[in-house]
Amino acid sequence: MLNLGILISGRGSNMESILRSIKRKKIPIRPAVVISNKPDAKGLKIAESMGVSIEVVESKGFAGSRAEYDKRVMKVLSEYGVTPKNGLVCLAGFMRIISPEFVKRYKNRIINIHPALLPSFPGLDSQKQALAYGAKYSGCTVHFVDAGMDTGPIIMQAVVRIKEGDTEESLSKRILREEHRIYPEAVNLFARKKITVSGRRTIIS
Ligand code: GAR
Repeated sequence: MLNLGILISGRGSNMESILRSIKRKKIPIRPAVVISNKPDAKGLKIAESMGVSIEVVESKGFAGSRAEYDKRVMKVLSEYGVTPKNGLVCLAGFMRIISPEFVKRYKNRIINIHPALLPSFPGLDSQKQALAYGAKYSGCTVHFVDAGMDTGPIIMQAVVRIKEGDTEESLSKRILREEHRIYPEAVNLFARKKITVSGRRTIIS
């Protein structure tokens, strides 16, 4: 069975939805470790209460380069069996850019959830960006992580209609509901080896 490492920075609701799906025996993967770059991330407590090992690799005040920081993260992942051969790394609200070294070493084994229909509204505050742009639809995207910012091959997307009178908060809430649905589904597909990457495309069998 594959080993799963989840990287978080805060609330951890996507992490929780993945862990819950695994617990319900829906996903054949072992939740090996949750790593946060912030010691006070709320998600750490949730992971702990669900019986999953937690680790902090603090980024604040870290004197080294991005690559050096990621090296530490990779070391922790390996210690828990989340290796480039036998692991999957899920970014779940992990608010850091991943170094090319990390991406290369875990090629097509790092996935992320983004609260917009990529390639629209990458980066931060995607829900705010969608509202400011006047988009009629937004949503969320699960994708492989490559060296760019929110640019890797797309695995799954869900569409959310933007209503008149939506605020950043109301739209984020409806998008988050879809995030919680598609992220565990994507992890499930990966765990069952049903995703093949072909150039920019993913093929789901
Ligand atoms: C989620 O909405 C996720 O899509 C977003 O951060 C939130 C984390 O919430 N990620 C990004 O914006 C990445 N660019 P969570 O900690 O409750 O899962």
